[in-house]
Amino acid sequence: MSGFVEKPQPVQVPGLVHLHTGKVRDLYRNEAGDLVMVASDRISAYDWVLPTEIPDKGRVLTRLSLWWFDRLKDLVPHHVLSTELPEGAPASWEGRTLVCRSLRMVPVECVARGYLTGSGLAEYEQSRTVCGLALPEGLADGSELPAPIFTPATKAAVGDHDENVSYEEVARQVGAETAALLRRTTIDVYARARDIARDRGIILADTKFEFGFDGDTLVLADEVLTPDSSRFWPADAWEPGHPQPSYDKQFVRDWLTSPASGWDRRSEEPPPALPEEVVAATRAKYLEAYELLTGTAWS
Ligand SMILES: Nc1ncnc2c1ncn2[C@@H]1O[C@H](COP(=O)(O)OP(=O)(O)O)[C@@H](O)[C@H]1O
Ligand SMILES: [Mg+2]
Repeated sequence: MSGFVEKPQPVQVPGLVHLHTGKVRDLYRNEAGDLVMVASDRISAYDWVLPTEIPDKGRVLTRLSLWWFDRLKDLVPHHVLSTELPEGAPASWEGRTLVCRSLRMVPVECVARGYLTGSGLAEYEQSRTVCGLALPEGLADGSELPAPIFTPATKAAVGDHDENVSYEEVARQVGAETAALLRRTTIDVYARARDIARDRGIILADTKFEFGFDGDTLVLADEVLTPDSSRFWPADAWEPGHPQPSYDKQFVRDWLTSPASGWDRRSEEPPPALPEEVVAATRAKYLEAYELLTGTAWS
């Protein structure tokens, strides 16, 4: 089982048509035909959208994405048109609402990895490959790869796993030219972001981008380089050979899989509400990532 523990009801705003309730964002179309993307405080883990929200998470992800878009725009245009609150929208949307170009989305999760961990590590241990790409012997959990690699995945519906696919499969789906453009842009953007993060003492282990087309132009969409879409590790604690500490939902995952939660991941039961201290610790991690990366205090 998976999906929403409690499916949120969309807020109705005159002039906006509700399109989609995603795991984290709610999508609307305004009268100009643009996309209005509202980042909620929802959090997902183990393919479930949890019944507990993390205060300020939506605003942290929104502000961090904007910060990155600005540092990447010479490499690839982004989808944000305006940060102004649409007329009639509730004040609670302030700071977490973006008006974006409505794009023809490419149905591929464009993942770049500079370090080995997670599903990449699992495949490497089986076959010394990641997404079919051969890698050298002797790499461990957390090792830096000789060069960043493009490891695409199919985009799953809410509650489903994303699945790694080969580059050849992407080329079959979207065409050879688009596949090559996705790979090149994903690696270029990853390399830029990795260097920026490294200067701030943070390792960007891997990250996921979504792209869309505006006419013939490839545009960077969705959120970018947030703790939800990326693995960020403190550089001073980096030590290959075991899982690295990270600026994300590790507290949530650890608690959910601990006896304290009373929840069995493999059962049909939805996960329980998070205790206050797990919410507070997770919120602090999101803020810490924001503050370290941008060098500005959260307020
Ligand atoms: N500029 C855009 N145009 C159209 N769709 C977009 C754009 N940017 C992001 N999206 C889509 O909006 C949704 C964002 O909401 P999210 O909560 O992340 O949903 P999901 O559960 O599908 O990951 C994603 O489905 C993403 O593909
Ligand atoms: Mg998403």
